[in-house]
Amino acid sequence: MNPKKLTGEKAAEFISDGMIIGLGTGSTAYYAIKKVGEMVRDGLNVKAVPTSKETAELALEEGIELIELSQVEKLDLTIDGADEVDPDFNLIKGGGGALLREKIVAAATEKLIIIVDESKLVDKLGDFLLPVEVTPFSWQYTQKMINKMGGSSEIRKKDGEIFVTDNDNYILDCDFGKIEKPEKLTIDLNTIPGVVENGIFAKMAEVVVVGHNDGKIEV
Ligand code: 5RP
Repeated sequence: MNPKKLTGEKAAEFISDGMIIGLGTGSTAYYAIKKVGEMVRDGLNVKAVPTSKETAELALEEGIELIELSQVEKLDLTIDGADEVDPDFNLIKGGGGALLREKIVAAATEKLIIIVDESKLVDKLGDFLLPVEVTPFSWQYTQKMINKMGGSSEIRKKDGEIFVTDNDNYILDCDFGKIEKPEKLTIDLNTIPGVVENGIFAKMAEVVVVGHNDGKIEV
């Protein structure tokens, strides 16, 4: 059985009636959203904040009521995927380009549930290139400053064109080698002018649901 589907469905079990939830982005979060849609059609009452335009569209198709983050004090829980997870539950996110809204929603959430298949588990973050969202204005200057911190980076492209995020920004995919101090790197990166946000989610996840290829799920 598909481990992404298993984890998405398992995470949906954490949702109870009346909750305000955050909905992540990506091919694993997709299965959680589909499951929430099924639960809503069976009578579950939830309101959701989506982390991308793609997720908003899917959630609406599924009949899930959407709200703005500004309309609520906090979110009860958020279910989202990740590109890498270390043993301390530090994450790299943003492979799908939604890291800014994902981080804002994660910060507003009481319980962040991360759903991954076993291929995402690593001893140390850094094999997956770290996505950093930057302003289009003078992004090459921002790139130089990032590279001075010991990284190298490439502007993300899609179909030969620069990839534009839901927030009209660009993404630099950065190679810092193995990331020894994720908390320090996330702070350092965000002090560079032009950096909007980076894809390190340091100690934000409370629960990690791992789907194994043999069909087992670990929470
Ligand atoms: C999008 C993300 C995704 O959660 C991450 O890229 C994992 O995606 P997938 O479940 O498709 O592997 O951070 O910005």
